[in-house]
Amino acid sequence: MTRRILIAGNWKMNTRRAGAVELAKGIVAGVGDEPSVDVALCPPSVYLTVVADAVAGTPIGLGAQNLYAADDGAFTGEVNASMLTDVGCRYVILGHSERRAIMGETDQQISEKLHAALAGNLIPIVCVGETLEDRESGSTEKVVETQLRGSLDGLDDARAAGVVIAYEPVWAIGTGKTASPAQAEEVHAFIRKLLGELFGDDVAGQMRIQYGGSVKPGNAKELLGQPNIDGALVGGASLKVEDFMGIINPA
Ligand code: G3H
Repeated sequence: MTRRILIAGNWKMNTRRAGAVELAKGIVAGVGDEPSVDVALCPPSVYLTVVADAVAGTPIGLGAQNLYAADDGAFTGEVNASMLTDVGCRYVILGHSERRAIMGETDQQISEKLHAALAGNLIPIVCVGETLEDRESGSTEKVVETQLRGSLDGLDDARAAGVVIAYEPVWAIGTGKTASPAQAEEVHAFIRKLLGELFGDDVAGQMRIQYGGSVKPGNAKELLGQPNIDGALVGGASLKVEDFMGIINPA
């Protein structure tokens, strides 16, 4: 089963308008017309429109970092899937560990967002991952399984193939500590097996599982060379053209 690599830059709460445009244009120039991998840029929501303009007509996909699972209405401060597709989004990151930890997002809320994303024709990138405490207590698989079962609740086999999973061990995010390729592959293989139980092996074989957590040019090649690692969700290193390009085209 060939799965196309997906490299997504999660800019988190960084950049200002001019810098966002400059960064996007730099990546557009670096990626060219026929990249060998899929590339997505996920800027802060207020800059989606300017980044949409910068990537228009290129192979680069636009992504949001979150959505609210409701139709239009009295939900101050929120944006829904229809608004995201309206400004040109193709992807949406859901259940990032920062949202789980800081905003208290639950698996059930993430599952509601997943269904809203799919109904709005967005490709969801569903994030899961254990804390250092979970890992040290030997609970990694249990935690990841609970998050996956909860976040993917109600997902049918037909739609599952288009969903992207991002495995991001919390202890590796923004810390400079990357999971070793073997550590990451072990969890990715576990996730693939679980997806097989949930949706059948054929669908599981089509689903992309990204790794995230201190991915940089120097470790991208080995991580992306693992059989069950189908891309990267990149934070810090997506904020510099040279670093992000070094992950898209690892030496
Ligand atoms: O969404 C991206 C991840 O949280 C990884 O962030 O590359 O800065 O460690 P990082």
